[in-house]
Amino acid sequence: MERSMRVVLLLIRVLAFATITFSIGLCNGIPGWPPLCKESERQALLMFKHDLEDPANWLSSWVAEEGSDCCSWTGVVCDQITGYIHELHLNSSDSDREFHYLFGGKINPSLLSLKHLNYLDLSNNNFSTTQIPSFFGSMTSLTHLNLADSGFYGIIPHKLGNLSSLRYLNLSSFYYSNLMVENLQWISGLSLLKHLDLSYVNLSRASDWLQVTNMLPSLAELIMFDCQLDQIPHLPTANFIQNMTCLKVLNLRWNDFNSTVPEWLYSLNNLESLLLSGNALRGEISSSIGNLKSLRHFDISGNSISGPIPMSLGNLSSLVELDISRNQFNGTFIEVIGKLKLLTDLDISYNWFEGVVSEVSFSNLTKLKHFIAKGNSFTLKTSRDWLPPFQLENLQLDSWHLGPQWPMWLQTQTQLTDLSLSGTGISSTIPTWFWNLTSQVEYLNLSHNQLYGQIQNISVAPYSIVDLSSNHFTGALPIVPTSLYWLDLSNSSFSGSVFHFFCDRPDEPKQRVFLYLGNNLLTGKVPDCWMSWQSLYFLHLENNNLTGNVPMSMGYLRYLRSLHLRNNHLYGELPHSLQNCSSLSVVDLGGNGFVGSIPIWIGESLSNLQVLNLRSNEFEGDIPSQVCYLKSLQILDLAHNKLSGTIPRCFHNLSSMAGVSKSGWLEGYGISNSYIPEYSILVTKGIEVNYTKNLKFVKSMDLSCNFMHGEIPEELTGLLELQSLNLSNNRFTGRIPSKIGNMAQLESLDFSMNQLDAEIPLSMTNLTFLSHLNLSYNNLTGRIPESTQLQSLDQSSFVGNELCGPPLNKNCSANGVIPPPTDGGGYRLLEDEWFYVSLGVGFFTGFWIVLGSLLVNMPWSILLSQLLNRIALKMYHVIVEYV
Ligand SMILES: *[C@@H]1O[C@H](CO)[C@@H](O)[C@H](O)[C@H]1NC(C)=O
Ligand SMILES: *[C@@H]1O[C@H](CO)[C@@H](O)[C@H](O)[C@H]1NC(C)=O
Ligand SMILES: *[C@@H]1O[C@H](CO)[C@@H](O)[C@H](O)[C@H]1NC(C)=O
Ligand SMILES: *[C@@H]1O[C@H](CO)[C@@H](O)[C@H](O)[C@H]1NC(C)=O
Ligand SMILES: *[C@@H]1O[C@H](CO)[C@@H](O)[C@H](O)[C@H]1NC(C)=O
Ligand SMILES: *[C@@H]1O[C@H](CO)[C@@H](O)[C@H](O)[C@H]1NC(C)=O
Ligand SMILES: *[C@@H]1O[C@H](CO)[C@@H](O)[C@H](O)[C@H]1NC(C)=O
Ligand SMILES: *[C@@H]1O[C@H](CO)[C@@H](O)[C@H](O)[C@H]1NC(C)=O
Ligand SMILES: *[C@@H]1O[C@H](CO)[C@@H](O)[C@H](O)[C@H]1NC(C)=O
Ligand SMILES: *[C@@H]1O[C@H](CO)[C@@H](O)[C@H](O)[C@H]1NC(C)=O
Repeated sequence: MERSMRVVLLLIRVLAFATITFSIGLCNGIPGWPPLCKESERQALLMFKHDLEDPANWLSSWVAEEGSDCCSWTGVVCDQITGYIHELHLNSSDSDREFHYLFGGKINPSLLSLKHLNYLDLSNNNFSTTQIPSFFGSMTSLTHLNLADSGFYGIIPHKLGNLSSLRYLNLSSFYYSNLMVENLQWISGLSLLKHLDLSYVNLSRASDWLQVTNMLPSLAELIMFDCQLDQIPHLPTANFIQNMTCLKVLNLRWNDFNSTVPEWLYSLNNLESLLLSGNALRGEISSSIGNLKSLRHFDISGNSISGPIPMSLGNLSSLVELDISRNQFNGTFIEVIGKLKLLTDLDISYNWFEGVVSEVSFSNLTKLKHFIAKGNSFTLKTSRDWLPPFQLENLQLDSWHLGPQWPMWLQTQTQLTDLSLSGTGISSTIPTWFWNLTSQVEYLNLSHNQLYGQIQNISVAPYSIVDLSSNHFTGALPIVPTSLYWLDLSNSSFSGSVFHFFCDRPDEPKQRVFLYLGNNLLTGKVPDCWMSWQSLYFLHLENNNLTGNVPMSMGYLRYLRSLHLRNNHLYGELPHSLQNCSSLSVVDLGGNGFVGSIPIWIGESLSNLQVLNLRSNEFEGDIPSQVCYLKSLQILDLAHNKLSGTIPRCFHNLSSMAGVSKSGWLEGYGISNSYIPEYSILVTKGIEVNYTKNLKFVKSMDLSCNFMHGEIPEELTGLLELQSLNLSNNRFTGRIPSKIGNMAQLESLDFSMNQLDAEIPLSMTNLTFLSHLNLSYNNLTGRIPESTQLQSLDQSSFVGNELCGPPLNKNCSANGVIPPPTDGGGYRLLEDEWFYVSLGVGFFTGFWIVLGSLLVNMPWSILLSQLLNRIALKMYHVIVEYV
């Protein structure tokens, strides 16, 4: 029927064309055919344009000139026969949205004059000063209304419910997320609706969302992505789903559902896409899932679903994409997947699956392209000459048991772009053929295995990420493409000089932005050819056997944020040129033999510094007062040097430690800091603590084991956010600052082995987080102030003084006379862990591109407060992990 109508229309048009041609030839045309647009509609459009902002002059063809046919104007579509305006395409392009939009301003109600308008697309614009005009609800001829990302704000007018002809409605609002509803009753007026997209609209008040959408019997696509819905109602199935038989796409990703999956969902047997990821759904998947025979795309990732995968899932023979990652499924699952012959995308990563998987399980999966299964404990057993039936592009089996042999079947996989086999127990060399497969690989992770042997050459696609860390590779560093983006060869046994790695091909600029070579056996001088490495952001060479000076040419690394040279055999003075590296945020030069005074330019030029670690070197002289310029400094470790002089009074200007300025971790360098998983080993409470995700909150100062003298300035107590302060093993005299109690965040405080005298200030009882205190071996006198905190500490915190009262056994005599000192009671100085402290900062070589999206919104502050709570007790190890 429809087709024959079209044929008729086409005939009419051909005839019309012939007529026009004919008539033009005869008498200069007949006005009115094809129909010009209606004058009233033309005026309406001109009024509409008048109120619109059109910075790109996109509507330049919309002119008031006599005879200008508005049917030929940009974005206007008229009916070919009647000349009435049917469609207005006034959207910007989705992909350009971030950079520019076409229209802003106001929407003139003159649109109401377009009585035959059925298609209105205003998406991807910026009407950010207005609400959705309620007169839209009077444009009852509309069948298609797209206001996605148009910048409208506020409550969606209920009047839209009058658009009873509407088949397509898109109000999603990703860029603005400004829209909300009071309820969704009005939706029930749109009884012909097929496609409804309310993504990012705040629907938290619309607890009726399901009952209402159930009144739309034609609804085929329901998209409510990230709408702050907190309930997915559990209603009786029988009569309920009658009206939802047309539903093909149900997208409820990223809401706050925390119930079980309701039973009625399994009855929507026309569903093709069921997308429930990013909620907090619990319980098990019912075996009724097998009813959803049409399902092609099932995504339930990122919930808390547990239990086995029902066998009936294997009946979903249409399934093309299946994502059940990041749940708590257990058992073996592979027999079920083995039946899904059409699967191209399978993600079962981060579940609790275990058991043995054999090659037979994969025999039907001929179409598989993306197989992401990391974070499970499967054991893969294949014959040595297995020829897999699939050709994968993305394979991620991290933490599977694949080893100890190298998986030879990889040889058949010639299309790989992502390959991740971290922590899979492979203990072998990498066969030479492997590097013939990797030329188009963009992400290669073979870390945390027992791979050994030498690597001559790494060839991967441009801008790739390569992580071969934590293995047993030997020999010289391999030759790698200059275009590599991220290279991690740390924690291995690479040896020999680093000269060729850094200095070959000096005229080819290296793209490498993240370079991790720490924890190897690298030797030789730090080469002086950094001119071609100007893209470097992160440079890790710590824990090697490098010698020589820091070369002048390192001054070329002006984007460098993180420089780790700790624990090598470097010496000499720091070159002035380093002051050009003004992006530096983290400098860790500890455990070398650097000499000279602490350079003044550190304070003057490295204004972004957040971590300065010069521990265990031979620095001498005063701490320059310019260090006080470092407003972002959070960790200052100058311990174990030969520094003399006094503590600069200006230290209270270290405003990040004082809590005055809140600088973000590695902020302001273009890369969002939350993309970079990081760790730092910090000595606090006399033990090494591996801080990971919460590192950005750590604030610590360590000046211990130097020759500093004078009084501890009262100003130091202005560093209100310090959690750890160590001034031990110096020659400080005078009193403990009386306002020490202001430093309420202190967890660890060490003033031991100085010459401090007088009484312990009473305010110390206010340090309620204090779990490690060492005041031993000073000349303190009097009664230890009483608080639950101080009395719960060990005696060793106070020995070697003239103190009395608990926790010491010495009673304070009633008249204030202190009994003669006795031995501290088995306290053996040299066995105190306090003497084996060392501080280091490093960055975990994670994969920020992959993890980035997950980390962006992590609630740091919650983690911090949890951490602080936990250290109420003396704590020996903290590793906070939450990826
Ligand atoms: C409007 O959207 C359509 C797709 O819906 C797109 O093809 C077109 O390019 C967009 N218009 C503009 C000007 O970007
Ligand atoms: C089904 O839709 C009709 C018409 O919109 C409505 O009257 C009826 O209440 C709906 N049924 C259920 C169970 O919601
Ligand atoms: C689910 O969330 C609601 C509010 O969002 C809360 O009151 C309820 O305790 C949660 N239930 C579970 C089981 O977590
Ligand atoms: C899966 O987990 C459930 C509860 O968490 C447990 O009862 C069951 O034994 C587990 N199944 C397997 C195969 O480990
Ligand atoms: C592969 O498909 C065949 C035929 O459908 C079936 O009999 C067999 O069990 C499937 N193999 C696996 C491993 O599921
Ligand atoms: C790898 O490729 C090179 C040339 O591209 C070829 O000479 C060599 O034989 C290949 N090695 C293997 C093991 O396939
Ligand atoms: C490290 O260097 C020192 C001399 O600088 C040398 O004695 C030592 O053998 C080297 N160690 C390794 C593992 O290369
Ligand atoms: C610290 O923790 C991170 C993340 O768990 C880890 O990658 C790193 O190896 C740890 N460092 C040390 C020295 O334990
Ligand atoms: C402890 O802190 C409270 C309030 O923070 C203050 O009133 C009190 O004086 C402090 N005590 C001492 C001894 O400083
Ligand atoms: C300790 O203090 C007492 C009295 O305050 C003083 O006589 C003595 O010299 C001091 N000892 C040291 C080592 O400073």
